Amino acid sequence: MENLEEYRKAGKIAGQVREYSRELVKPGAKLFDIAEKIEAKIIELGGQIAFPVNLSLNQFAAHCTPVQGDDIVLKDEIIKVDVGVHVDGFVGDTAHTIDLSGKNAELVKASEEALKAAIEAVKQDKSIGEIGKAIQETINGFGFAPIKNLSGHGLDQYVVHDAPTIPNYDTGNMNKLDKEQVIAIEPFATTGTGKVKDSSNPMIYSQIEIKPIRDMFARKVLKEIEQYNGLPFATRWLAKKFPLNQLRFALSRLVREGILRDYPPLPEVAGGLVSQTEHSLYIGKEIEVLTK
Ligand code: CO
Repeated sequence: MENLEEYRKAGKIAGQVREYSRELVKPGAKLFDIAEKIEAKIIELGGQIAFPVNLSLNQFAAHCTPVQGDDIVLKDEIIKVDVGVHVDGFVGDTAHTIDLSGKNAELVKASEEALKAAIEAVKQDKSIGEIGKAIQETINGFGFAPIKNLSGHGLDQYVVHDAPTIPNYDTGNMNKLDKEQVIAIEPFATTGTGKVKDSSNPMIYSQIEIKPIRDMFARKVLKEIEQYNGLPFATRWLAKKFPLNQLRFALSRLVREGILRDYPPLPEVAGGLVSQTEHSLYIGKEIEVLTK
């Protein structure tokens, strides 16, 4: 496959940064500092940031990243660390869950084992539905529910969520995975009912349209955003250049204009705790886990 070396490099860095996060995620640590250190590590290791590191606590499954002024200090949370690295746009995507309470080891293990079962199903060339089934049955076996409206996905150059969709449950999809592609598989396990919803206060956005904007400040913000090449970015990054309140106003205006999309935090609908484990895989003659 073309660009496999870039995918390998991005995947390797993503895996290293995920493991590095274990040193940072400790009671008493500030979430803001953890995010900044994780993203700095990506650059230090020679990668680029494919999306803002997602640090999602407790019932939040994904799309949380700190912002200036929120001052969250870790205590006894269950925290998902989802890291995205790119090399020339080719993305490595990986996640793990750290339980600081000491009470949710089984929930963490459920998504870890589900990912192993899914990779095994991929190696056996099972259908997409059967991959989802392996995830679902493993998580159910621990007494938890898979989150059905989150899924794994294909990866492409400057695209984090591409086709195909890799479900976290048995959808009955009989299709097999095409060869010569890179995908991410990400089981989510929850003590809740198995569904997430959009909430408010997005901290992550991406540009989806190139269009002129009249407002001068919004135009200045958009100029900064162009460097991300359509990949997701954090309010936190831009707040280093622009006053936060004005920036928030401009970002929501750009969403209304259809130039940006937002990624609001995703809590589990019943408020259940959530764990997540994710690897990126190369689907070739052999299956290669890129984010080990
Ligand atoms: Co992913």
